[in-house]
Amino acid sequence: MSVVASTGDFERLARSRLPRFLYDYAAGGAYDEATLGRNIDDLRSVSLRQRVLRDVADIDTSTEMFGRRLPLPVALAPIGIGGMYRRRGEVQAARAAHARGLPFTVSTVALCSIEEIAQATSGPLWFQLYVIRDRGFMQDLIARAKAAKAEALVFTVDMPVPSARWRDAHSGMSGRWGPMRRLLQGAGKPLWALDVGLGGRPHRLGNLEPVLGTSSGMDDYMAWLGANFDPSIQWRDLEWIRHQWDGPLIIKGVLDREDARAAADIGAQAIVVSNHGGRQLDGALSSARALPAVADAVGGRVTILADSGVRSGLDVLRMLALGADGVLLGRAWLWALAAQGETGVTTMLELIEKEMRVAMTLTGIKTLTGVNRSILADGALQ
Ligand SMILES: Cc1cc2nc3c(=O)[nH]c(=O)nc-3n(C[C@H](O)[C@H](O)[C@H](O)COP(=O)(O)O)c2cc1C
Repeated sequence: MSVVASTGDFERLARSRLPRFLYDYAAGGAYDEATLGRNIDDLRSVSLRQRVLRDVADIDTSTEMFGRRLPLPVALAPIGIGGMYRRRGEVQAARAAHARGLPFTVSTVALCSIEEIAQATSGPLWFQLYVIRDRGFMQDLIARAKAAKAEALVFTVDMPVPSARWRDAHSGMSGRWGPMRRLLQGAGKPLWALDVGLGGRPHRLGNLEPVLGTSSGMDDYMAWLGANFDPSIQWRDLEWIRHQWDGPLIIKGVLDREDARAAADIGAQAIVVSNHGGRQLDGALSSARALPAVADAVGGRVTILADSGVRSGLDVLRMLALGADGVLLGRAWLWALAAQGETGVTTMLELIEKEMRVAMTLTGIKTLTGVNRSILADGALQ
C-alpha cells in the first residue's frame, strides 16, 4: 500500500504509473523551467506569523464566490488532456470536486467534452476558453458552455502562443518519432495502458470535435495548439467576449498590475494571477511575488484568484495572505487523479482542507475574512 500524506506523494505515485511523455508534459514548464521552480520556492518561502492562545476552536474555511458558498476558497484549474491521465479523467475529477461543492473548470482542450462532464455530475462547472482565431467557433463554444449551465467563463490570456517546452521534445510528446515513442512508453505502463490506453477511449478532444473531427489524437492536439491561438488579440476584443457571456467572466493569466486594471476596466468579475504553472514566459515572476502588487491595484474591484505552485492547504492560506480571495489547484489535482482516480482527488481535497485548518489554527484565524497581510511575518514580502 502506498501512503499518501501530501500532494507530493500523489506526484510520485502518478510518475510511476504514467508513460514518460504524460508525466513530463504535466511536470514540465517553459524553457529552463526557472519560473516553474520559483512558483514553488517563492510560495514556500512566505512565512506566516505564528499566533497562540486565541481561541480557535471553531474554524470556518468557507467563502463566497460568484454568489455561491464554497466550503473552501478553492476551485480546480483547467488542465488540457486530463482524460489522458485516467479513464475519462475530467469526469472523475469533476465528480470529486462536486462531492465537496467545489467548482471544476473544463479546459477548452479537455478530453471529455463539457456536455459529457455536465451529464455525468452535478455541481458548479466553469468553462475555460482560449483565444482562438476562429471567432465563430469561440462563439459556438460559449453557447455550449451556456447550454451546459457553466457558471463562469474562464478566459485564458497568457497563451497567445504556446511556449517552448524542452521536456516535450525530449519525452516524445512532440517531435518526429513522437507517435512511436508514446506507443512504446504506454506499453511499458500496463496499468495506465489498460485503464486509459484501452478503457479510456475515445482519446479525442471533446470540445474541439466540431473542428478537429473524430480522429483527433495527441499530434492533432499539439498541432491545433500551435495553429489556432491568436496573438493579435487585444483588450478591446474582450468587449466582444463580454458581450457573448453575461455571467461571471474570469481573466486567467494576469501577472502585471496594469493588466489587472485593464481586466477590471472591461468589466471582468475576476482575474487569476497566474503564469500558467511556469509553462509560458520563463523568467516571469512567480505568482506569489506578483500577487501583492496586483492586489494593491485592483483589490476590491475584482475577485482575485491565484494559482501556480499551490501544493497544500498552507499554500492556499499563503496565497490568501498575499492578497488572493481564492485559489486554483492545477497539478495538485492532476497528480491525485493520475495516481488514484476520483478517490485520489477526493483525498487530495481532504488533505487541502485539513492543512488549511491546521494553518488557520496556528496563525490564530477563525474565518477567511480575517486573512490578509497582517498574518504575514515581518519581511515576508521581501
Ligand atoms: C498539464 C497542464 C495542462 C494545462 N492546461 C491548461 C489549459 O488547457 N487551459 C488553461 O487555462 N490552463 C492550463 N494549464 C494551467 C493551469 O490551469 C494552472 O494555471 C497551472 O497548472 C497552475 O500551476 P500549478 O500546476 O503549479 O498549480 C495547464 C497546466 C498543466 C500542468
